[in-house]
Amino acid sequence: MKEVPTIKRHFNKAFLILIVLAGSLGIGLYTYSFKEASLVALPLADLPRQWRPKDPIKSLSSMPEKVKKGYYLIAETYQYMGPTAEDPNDRFTGNNLACTNCHLKAGTQAGASSWVGIIKRFPQFGGRANKIGTIEDRINGCIERSMNGEKLPENSDKMNAIVAYMDWISQGLPEKERNIYKGYQPIRIPDMAVDLDKGKQVFIKECLVCHGEQGQGRKKPNSTGYLYPPLWGLDSYNNGAGMNRVITAAEFIKSNMPYLQATWDNPKLTDEEAYHVAGYINSFPRPQKTNTALDYPNKKLKPVSTPYGPWTDHFTKEQHTYGPFPPIIAYYNKTYGITKTK
Ligand code: HEC
Ligand code: HEC
Repeated sequence: MKEVPTIKRHFNKAFLILIVLAGSLGIGLYTYSFKEASLVALPLADLPRQWRPKDPIKSLSSMPEKVKKGYYLIAETYQYMGPTAEDPNDRFTGNNLACTNCHLKAGTQAGASSWVGIIKRFPQFGGRANKIGTIEDRINGCIERSMNGEKLPENSDKMNAIVAYMDWISQGLPEKERNIYKGYQPIRIPDMAVDLDKGKQVFIKECLVCHGEQGQGRKKPNSTGYLYPPLWGLDSYNNGAGMNRVITAAEFIKSNMPYLQATWDNPKLTDEEAYHVAGYINSFPRPQKTNTALDYPNKKLKPVSTPYGPWTDHFTKEQHTYGPFPPIIAYYNKTYGITKTK
């Protein structure tokens, strides 16, 4: 009988601790989302989740024509607006990737920079151009960098079809679940430089089987597109791409790779493993974007892991490429009052 009050006391204490924890988490999240003007929103795991997006592949026969056209452009990009498009005038992307190699499940996968709900987030300020950019500008950002290609005309049928597709997958999204689809789940950025040997070990153990010994990937049978996309080399994203930043790549990898084994809410790699392997895949040669010096006209807004200069700080190129990043983040916070997460 004496035990009951003791248990109750313990219970009350635990409950109180929980409330305090939840409270500080709430305040933390509030200030975090307030300061953070970029992609990453609230940690996905703290958001309510009931709604599920439509399955584009299952809906192909019932989609409006324009939406269907958009679907093929993002899912078989290489064929409809890439290097192997029949009409040379249709060739805009410069590698044989598909948009959906990075925006998984045809852009509907939470934790993989999904496009669900995206139209409402634009126009939006973008540091890379230092101006308010439209959804079309943002799509062209990936075409020029992730796809190493050339801009689609703003008002072209192709651009309009892609936007129509993004709008279609967003239909019915409840307001309170909006943030689930936004950006990547942040990682805790390790306070150390990338260790390329550790990255190589992770690569051999967890990635090589699909992406190949030389990171070259593997083509689909009878197609120029990839079953397993390349991670470096001439047919990969260029050095100006978001995926070429170690922090961004580590966030993508932790929540999505190894493929079909990891999701944002059930990752396989630790933050450190994702970080080292991200540095490893980005240590190899890849296409070089021209005019990268013009990116981020306001250099203070440049993400800390942008591996090309110029920067407005005294850190080396080596440190901007491989970290450690917390000292750079602390410098911008102290000097300019800017909170950086990538
Ligand atoms: C190599 C990987 C890769 C490929 C291929 C790729 N993207 Fe992206 N995309 C990214 C990354 C990484 C980001 C987020 C960048 C960041 O966090 O700064 C992104 C962001 C975006 C965004 C903004 C998302 C948001 O929530 O603000 C849009 C829109 C987009 N991509 C469209 C496309 C389209 C359309 C294609 C194909 C033409 C494409 N992407 C191909 C990696 C890729
Ligand atoms: C089981 C096979 C498999 C394994 C293992 C795997 N991947 Fe992938 N990876 C894929 C596939 C498939 C895609 C494209 C997804 C799609 O198109 O739906 C992909 C996409 C990617 C991309 C974005 C596209 C690109 O080419 O840049 C990166 C980066 C990536 N993987 C890194 C890794 C890393 C790092 C590992 C190891 C930690 C890994 N992957 C393990 C199959 C795999």
